[in-house]
Amino acid sequence: MIRTGITGLGMSVPDQVLTNQDLEKMIDTSDEWIRARTGIVERRIVSDNQSTLDLCFEAGTEALQNAEIEARDLDLIIVATVTPDMVFPATACLLQDRLGAPAAAAFDLEAGCSGFVYGLITGAQFINSGAYSRIMVVGAETLSRITDWEDRNTCVLFGDGAGAVVLERVEKGGLLGFDLGSDGAGGSFLDLPAGGSRQPASQETVAQKLHYIRMDGNQVFKFAVKAMGQAALKALKKAGLSGEDIDLFIPHQANRRIIDAAGRKLGLPGEKVFVNLDRYGNTSGASIPLALYEAVAEGMVKSGDIVVLSGFGAGLSWAAAVLEWN
Ligand code: ACO
Repeated sequence: MIRTGITGLGMSVPDQVLTNQDLEKMIDTSDEWIRARTGIVERRIVSDNQSTLDLCFEAGTEALQNAEIEARDLDLIIVATVTPDMVFPATACLLQDRLGAPAAAAFDLEAGCSGFVYGLITGAQFINSGAYSRIMVVGAETLSRITDWEDRNTCVLFGDGAGAVVLERVEKGGLLGFDLGSDGAGGSFLDLPAGGSRQPASQETVAQKLHYIRMDGNQVFKFAVKAMGQAALKALKKAGLSGEDIDLFIPHQANRRIIDAAGRKLGLPGEKVFVNLDRYGNTSGASIPLALYEAVAEGMVKSGDIVVLSGFGAGLSWAAAVLEWN
């Protein structure tokens, strides 16, 4: 049986920090409200000349170095994002060119905040089947570009960043189980309505602010509390494990209250739940690989540990993966 594991990690966040105090000057909000309701303290925002591709390139370059392979060794690049540089070509193709990976196929994957875990699981299928040997999966977002900075219901939540992994065949451990799902009936709770074939960009769509994230926060909250813990439990069951076996839970970083609820559902003490939401906000597809990178960098993951990744997001969608770290 071929096993797929993560052999390299990289991350990139913009230098520019936007604090809750900065937001107090922009909209009717307070640091106290944002901290209490979300757990977010600050987030990173790209500069005018930066794009999602730039973050992908930095995170991807570090992941290649960390895996000790060259870009030309890659067979496939998957970029999970809702903020591609353009509608087409795929940001993954732009990254293939910038990294210098002539042998790599490339495509973008759009599954909102679940996108990175969807990409990880998709990539693993190519390795498990024997088709490919080395795959890069990047979760990257510049949500600041699709945020309505006058809407206090959404603009306090989001940030920019990217995390990348290299997937290769491993002798033991690696991906042990996963769960993927969707509920398109809830799609309208979290969307960006215009700019596609239904409502092409026009002066009206711009005037009506239809090119920004729209969200029914309460509906998404209810969905998230249920989906994230449930997906993790299903993935664990497929791996023949249970919540007690988890050494570290790395949830999508959307809201501290959602993370705590998922941790409780899995019966986990606080120290087994990784949180960096306070410093980056919700970076959608980038949030889980950014958190995984920092957890490993902080020495929170040892060889043989069971690490569970679980995300939810636009679609609505969810995705969880159980990894034995090595
Ligand atoms: N500052 C101050 N007050 C605010 C703010 C703000 N930034 N935003 C909302 N409020 C007010 C509301 O207007 C409301 O006031 P009212 O009672 O006078 O009407 C009050 O605060 C409470 O609002 P609620 O929406 O009930 O607040 P809640 O505690 O539910 O928190 C939140 C809102 C943080 C958005 C929460 O619902 C949430 O986290 N939802 C999930 C969001 C999420 O995870 N999104 C994922 C996106 S993933 C992707 O794919 C991009």
